Amino acid sequence: MKKLTGPKKIKTAVFISGKGSNLNNLIKFSKFKNYPYSVDLIISNTNKAKGLKYSKKYGIEKKIISYDKKVKSDKKILYFLKQKKIKLICLAGFMKILSSNFVKKFKGNIINIHPSLLPKYKGLNSHIRAIKNGEKFSGCSVHHVTSKLDSGKIILQKKVKISKKDTAFSLAKKVLKIEHLIYPAAIKKILN
Ligand code: GRF
Repeated sequence: MKKLTGPKKIKTAVFISGKGSNLNNLIKFSKFKNYPYSVDLIISNTNKAKGLKYSKKYGIEKKIISYDKKVKSDKKILYFLKQKKIKLICLAGFMKILSSNFVKKFKGNIINIHPSLLPKYKGLNSHIRAIKNGEKFSGCSVHHVTSKLDSGKIILQKKVKISKKDTAFSLAKKVLKIEHLIYPAAIKKILN
């Protein structure tokens, strides 16, 4: 990714499917002078995503693209990204897998947050699997997106301890807290 020059912020799109707590957090950090990005577009694959409320709250444009017909959806998304001059995509709880064609076209400028210490527990239900396997630690990872699921180069990772009392729910809550710390930090790291 190109280095920043001057006070200009890199225009970013955040892709969501659900609650959008990471989206909200990324927007909050983007307002700080020393965070080199702005959130200019929100994309969701469903109009049921609760996180869409942040579009109205912050006055950020949103687009809903079902992503059922991949080729068509790719084209639509690429059109909107171009229109808004988006240079970086942040996936934040986006439950669809982007096509390899799309990943290629966006020249590697796509990052994702995953709630595990990658390469462990790629894919869904990472918390349940970590607890079942008796892991002592879990955590989260921000990584570059490639066409292979949760497999691109790691940008930042942070650990949390799994206690004996933890359930998938309590662990998800703990991990989400540290997700909110490392996602904006990871963006800063790749852009500075
Ligand atoms: C987060 O745990 C993220 O790591 C995972 O999906 C969850 C999204 O949460 N990919 P939110 O919608 O940002 O609250």
